[in-house]
Amino acid sequence: MNILAIETSCDETAAAVIGDEAKILSNVVVSQIDIFAAYGGVIPEVAARSHLEAILPVIHQALDDAGLAKDDIDCIAVTYAPGLLGSLLIGTLTARTLAILWHKPLYAVHHLKSHIYSNWLHDDINQDHTTLPNFPLMALVISGGHTQIIYMPEHNKFEIIGTTRDDAVGECFDKIAKILGLPYPGGPSIAKVAEHGNSNKYKFPHPKVDGLDFSFSGLKTAVLRAVQADCNLPITTPSYELAKHLAGQQRADFAASFQATACDILLEKLQIALEGHPEARATVFAGGVSANQVLRQKALVGPKNSLRSDFWHPHADLQVFFPEPRFSGDNAAMVGAAAYYEIIAGSQAVDPYKLNILPHTPIK
Ligand code: KG4
Ligand code: ZN
Repeated sequence: MNILAIETSCDETAAAVIGDEAKILSNVVVSQIDIFAAYGGVIPEVAARSHLEAILPVIHQALDDAGLAKDDIDCIAVTYAPGLLGSLLIGTLTARTLAILWHKPLYAVHHLKSHIYSNWLHDDINQDHTTLPNFPLMALVISGGHTQIIYMPEHNKFEIIGTTRDDAVGECFDKIAKILGLPYPGGPSIAKVAEHGNSNKYKFPHPKVDGLDFSFSGLKTAVLRAVQADCNLPITTPSYELAKHLAGQQRADFAASFQATACDILLEKLQIALEGHPEARATVFAGGVSANQVLRQKALVGPKNSLRSDFWHPHADLQVFFPEPRFSGDNAAMVGAAAYYEIIAGSQAVDPYKLNILPHTPIK
């Protein structure tokens, strides 16, 4: 089976061809990061227009790279939810049009499901399948728009057991980066500067949220206040005024201390979730923030004050999966992987004349 997958939910225009068992036949991503770095964030209308310009060349490239023509494609998969309205429209309208013109079945895929299934992508169909996640599993979805712990008893079944009550963790990275005067997107910028910083220099409180929910707005305010205090500025100083007062090492120490705290908060909640589900056989990380190297290191050794460090011991039974860094951020290969596991489970194709986008709908 050859799946042509399309993803345009935010600011990446992406197309990929995915074969049996989620084998990557091609993967093309055109990022709009350079456009939005100048503005410090995504402008939805500009993103939609950029998708419109890029979508057809990107699809052509994905077919060419796979060495396939349209007749070799068995079906089309596209992100229909959640995301920016105008961005989702470009991808879905393109996919609907191609499905009608080429007489191919069309599958609508949820973006967070795609992020989770980035962990099933591979280059080699003959790989050892013990290297794939076992069920039941616990997924930690950490992106610019979402922070959720999702329990999956089996393929294609999702129970959201924890979610953020305010900011997403990626959004928090992006906002702290602005305070520190670092370019958009904030995650990679903070990670880079933090390499030269002391993660123990500043102490930030962990939010007191019961259960498995997250909160990141308090951490954002804590960093803001600490920067103001360290620079001897009043708390009325606006956040956009702060960066110019920071010395290089001070900026690096703030970046490293914030990054370490954000990672510890994520892992502590994930551990509590795993304690509540001792039957879980794997934990999978997904979404843009899963590219973070400090998070990856901490996940393998356990966070500070780890309650059940045995969960994280490299020889414990629990499998721990991170997507390859190139599949942490938005891409279409993961859409194809998610579609593949839907299709083999018997999921029905959608009507290409009727597919609607759903910018805010939860995973299903
Ligand atoms: O999954 P994604 O590409 O798009 C959404 O679906 O939101 O995630 C984007 C988010 C941004 O907030 C970005 O700052 C963050 O992922 N991010 C990172 C890293 N790379 C990207 N956060 C922390 N560390 C990174 N290395
Ligand atoms: Zn995403």
